[in-house]
Amino acid sequence: MNAYKRYLITSALPYANGPIHIGHLAGVYVPSNIYTRYLRLKGVDVISICGSDEHGVPITIKARQEGVSPQDIVDKYHAIIKKSFEDFGITFDIYSRTSSKAHHENSAEFFRNLYDKGLFIEKTTEQYYDPEANQFLADRYITGTCPHCNNEKAYGDQCEKCGTSLNATDLINPKSTLSGAKPIRKSTKHWFLPLERYQSFLEKWILEEHKEWKTNVYGQCKSWLDQGLQPRAVSRDLNWGVPVPVEGAEGKVLYVWFDAPLGYITATKELTPDWEKYWKDPETRMIHFIGKDNIVFHCIVFPSMLKAEGSYILPDNVPANEFLNLEGNKISTSNNWAVWLHEYLEDFPGKQDVLRYVLTANMPETKDNDFTWKDFQARNNNELVAILGNFVNRALVLTHKYFEGKLPEMGPLTDYDKSTIEELPKLKASIEKNLESFRFRDALREMMNIARLGNKYLADSEPWKIYKTNPHRVATILNVSLQICANIAILAEPFLPFTSEKLRRMLSTSAAGWTKSGNINLLPVGHQIEKAELLFEKIEDDVVESQLAKLKSTKMENQAKAKPIEPQKGTITFDDFTKMDIRISTVLAAERVPKTKKLLKLEIDTGIDKRTIVSGIAEFFKPEDVVGRQVCVLVNLEPRKIRGVLSHGMILMAKNSDDSLRFVEPNEAVDSGSSVN
Ligand code: MF3
Ligand code: ZN
Repeated sequence: MNAYKRYLITSALPYANGPIHIGHLAGVYVPSNIYTRYLRLKGVDVISICGSDEHGVPITIKARQEGVSPQDIVDKYHAIIKKSFEDFGITFDIYSRTSSKAHHENSAEFFRNLYDKGLFIEKTTEQYYDPEANQFLADRYITGTCPHCNNEKAYGDQCEKCGTSLNATDLINPKSTLSGAKPIRKSTKHWFLPLERYQSFLEKWILEEHKEWKTNVYGQCKSWLDQGLQPRAVSRDLNWGVPVPVEGAEGKVLYVWFDAPLGYITATKELTPDWEKYWKDPETRMIHFIGKDNIVFHCIVFPSMLKAEGSYILPDNVPANEFLNLEGNKISTSNNWAVWLHEYLEDFPGKQDVLRYVLTANMPETKDNDFTWKDFQARNNNELVAILGNFVNRALVLTHKYFEGKLPEMGPLTDYDKSTIEELPKLKASIEKNLESFRFRDALREMMNIARLGNKYLADSEPWKIYKTNPHRVATILNVSLQICANIAILAEPFLPFTSEKLRRMLSTSAAGWTKSGNINLLPVGHQIEKAELLFEKIEDDVVESQLAKLKSTKMENQAKAKPIEPQKGTITFDDFTKMDIRISTVLAAERVPKTKKLLKLEIDTGIDKRTIVSGIAEFFKPEDVVGRQVCVLVNLEPRKIRGVLSHGMILMAKNSDDSLRFVEPNEAVDSGSSVN
């Protein structure tokens, strides 16, 4: 890594259609911030760039929902996002925004440059159009079934389930999200970036020269390249975005995925007049931090744009993460299934580092991962409090107790002292190695191992037991312990910046650089330390329970919203009703109908007779769950053959709002054959 003169770190520009949640943090911003802080501490020339992504359909959809203008939406969320990042210690050198004049100019100029060089294809094609809303249906204005994974809720530009990037016309059963209408096709002119022209360049650059990229990233790129790249439209029929800067393009704007990554460049220009050295000097190492749904845009599309222009460098690495789930379910802005950063900061004042710690420890680096409040509590109480906090507190308190808060002199070292001290440079090297390969979880674990080391050292050496008989030995133990604390103050900074700062204050030491750490000569003998304060405090059950209660009420609201209650059916006569013969019956035996997902074959005692009924309940009940159960059976329903089995009657089931099934059963046992009226 030393071959590079400087670093340019970008973090995916979040859509300003909602606040930041823990999924964004664990996927993109915590890792990029750890990495940036690490480089800064090493004294490397590094800038970290981010801003709000303020164009695109996610914004206009939100504006429509709230009955305000897109500009109102982005103003609101840009402010919330920017502030929450600052309060959380995500320290960008600039947090810009793409609705700014500077960005409109910059991205229009970039487009115009490629346009003038003849690098786009102009094509009139048929696009989906909503005849009720009188609007072309770009991107998220259209949903349908993904042709790759059958996800029924894929968008016109992308399937969030399998990550595939789509054209709206690829969707099966397309539907307008504006009116629900079936779209018609209407012809319209657009500009396309002919990605296929960059195919062989990309193959060489990624598949041969960047084999070190994370397997999830490399794999997605390879599958894209193997399928063969196609021209991609870089304009849209929308009225929100950067107007296409050519004649005859009224009502058309740049595709959000064309302008947004150029926002990295705009932001750098805003940050420094010297921006070109970051973007055009091959001695700059550019790294894009993103989530997995952004891979194709950062590894294929944006590099093709930069390559087309010709004077820019390309990213050297794109360490994309997978997704974080919340309590077992996919995080979703629209379903409010999230832990929102600005709310966390309110509910847990001063506890930024606890969340940073938990998100790093569970970072979805190689596979999707789950955040749970129980785990949050356990990691705080058992790791931050019990290991890191406890060690630091004991070392400081004992130094005050025995040496008036002055660093005592080190005497002769025992073998145990030596072997403890020898661990420090090894752990530091391991933290570095892991950080440099974007293995943040392992890096964090090694950082905590320093605290574990110190904790064990103190516990094993028991200075509190030997002060009376051997104060010199205690002096050595506390010197070593405080030097370990001073190492933690530095090496924890990328992960736990607030804790690191507090610890430095308590140790009364300034931010010694990363390079100086890894040894026990950080604090001079006689150095006066400050009063010990607790670094972390225990999180009690009621605190996590109230967070869980909040999620539970969200879940219930969503269920209520999920399905409109079916309207009442047409009136029937009493005679109609009495035609139905419903009897309480008992399930005698059950087995799955082979080769089906949903069907169980049940042997039923109706009280009248014993018979076979096939029922579509296998997704919700195992055969052993239903045997012995009393159920209601419509016994005079005409027999029907289902998957080759003759079914004599129907079991009555209640269908929940999420489409799951429940039995309708008597609240106390009744005789089989009793009629239900
Ligand atoms: N707004 C996009 C998202 O949240 C990311 C844009 S990254 C950029 O998925 F490169 F386009 F800026
Ligand atoms: Zn899909």
